Amino acid sequence: MMFEARVVAALVAVVSCAFVSMSAVAADQPVSTANAIAIARSNACMGCHAVDRKLVGPSFQQVAAKYKGDAQAPAKLAKKVKDGGAGVWGSIPMPSHPAMNDGDIKTVVAWVLAGAPQK
Ligand code: HEC
Repeated sequence: MMFEARVVAALVAVVSCAFVSMSAVAADQPVSTANAIAIARSNACMGCHAVDRKLVGPSFQQVAAKYKGDAQAPAKLAKKVKDGGAGVWGSIPMPSHPAMNDGDIKTVVAWVLAGAPQK
């Protein structure tokens, strides 16, 4: 009994610790800006996209404005980045990114939807 109680107490401590540190990160950097920018750069997103003007693809601010308030946007855009496709912004297709891991895609899409803040 004593042992179980201590295990439960330890688990509660670990979980609340993790929760506190997660919410601290969330308050400072909602979508981990620096990390997202590094992902966008290292996957050549910025070769076709700029934050505030159209290049080959739409600016990330245009994308954020278009999907503002759309609860499906994170999933929809993650799939679009992974699989590629055309027709939403014009006839030029975005290439697929099959080698990117889902976590990186999720991070970079959240950053785009936040308007691609620079810090
Ligand atoms: C070779 C050029 C190119 C590269 C590289 C590229 N994109 Fe795109 N992207 C485009 C084009 C063109 C479109 C518009 C597609 C359309 O009209 O459906 C687009 C559209 C998008 C959209 C909006 C999709 C929609 O359906 O509204 C997002 C988000 C996006 N890109 C993110 C990224 C990210 C993140 C990367 C890097 C992993 C990336 N793009 C790399 C060309 C590119």
